[in-house]
Amino acid sequence: MNKKAIALALGFASLSSIQLTAQAANIEAGKNAFETCRGCHTSPGASNVYPTYYVPKVGGQVAAYTAAALTAYKTSNRPHRTMMANTYDFSEQTIEDIAAYLATATGGSAKAIANGGDAKKGKELAASCMACHNGDTNEGASNPVLSGQHANYMERAMQEYQSGKRKNALMQSMVQGLSADDIKDIAAYFTSQKGLTAVD
Ligand code: HEC
Ligand code: HEC
Repeated sequence: MNKKAIALALGFASLSSIQLTAQAANIEAGKNAFETCRGCHTSPGASNVYPTYYVPKVGGQVAAYTAAALTAYKTSNRPHRTMMANTYDFSEQTIEDIAAYLATATGGSAKAIANGGDAKKGKELAASCMACHNGDTNEGASNPVLSGQHANYMERAMQEYQSGKRKNALMQSMVQGLSADDIKDIAAYFTSQKGLTAVD
């Protein structure tokens, strides 16, 4: 074999090993990896200790968004001590597996907990959000489903985009001009819609 042929052969060898590492997400492995997460994410009414807000629903969530969220915790880009501790040693594969599992885990039912906001007013205010948050769970889109999410969790998320604690330039610009009442009403609207579920 001449040098060029060897280089070509090696090139092909490394290409195929890359293809092998990028395995398809494994829903069963994701389900197993999620066992340690159930205590918080599948118990209705489980709450973050301080500040107090309900643990977000993750069943039926868009896989690309879940993967992005877990990666953001893993890299400390989204600061939350418990979730950082739960993800710091995850491989990309484990993150993909969990995200794929959660996208299919739509069976558990748990009522989304409201916040007393005005859902009708919130619907009007949310008109500009619907291009991305219309509940479309098509693969490829990374916009999270908000419908059926607990209200005080969403309020907290919007406040964190406003303050920049949760870093996302797009979402920061989307919620920048909202008052505390607007945020409460918008959250009330999405909470009143069917969507996310507790994981079964
Ligand atoms: C001790 C309770 C607890 C445990 C255990 C836990 N979580 Fe969480 N999780 C939370 C809380 C609270 C939040 C919201 C954090 C925030 O405000 O960023 C959260 C956020 C998330 C989010 C982001 C949701 C969103 O809409 O952005 C995902 C995804 C997630 N957790 C998955 C997991 C996985 C996977 C595990 C197990 C490996 C796990 N969690 C273990 C409490 C927990
Ligand atoms: C152009 C698309 C787009 C528009 C329009 C948009 N969003 Fe978002 N939204 C996103 C994306 C992408 C994310 C995930 C960002 C991240 O990773 O933190 C997100 C995240 C969120 C979250 C956090 C979800 C979670 O589970 O933690 C909330 C709440 C939210 N958006 C509310 C709104 C509201 C309210 C509006 C309208 C005022 C709006 N968004 C408009 C794309 C959009």
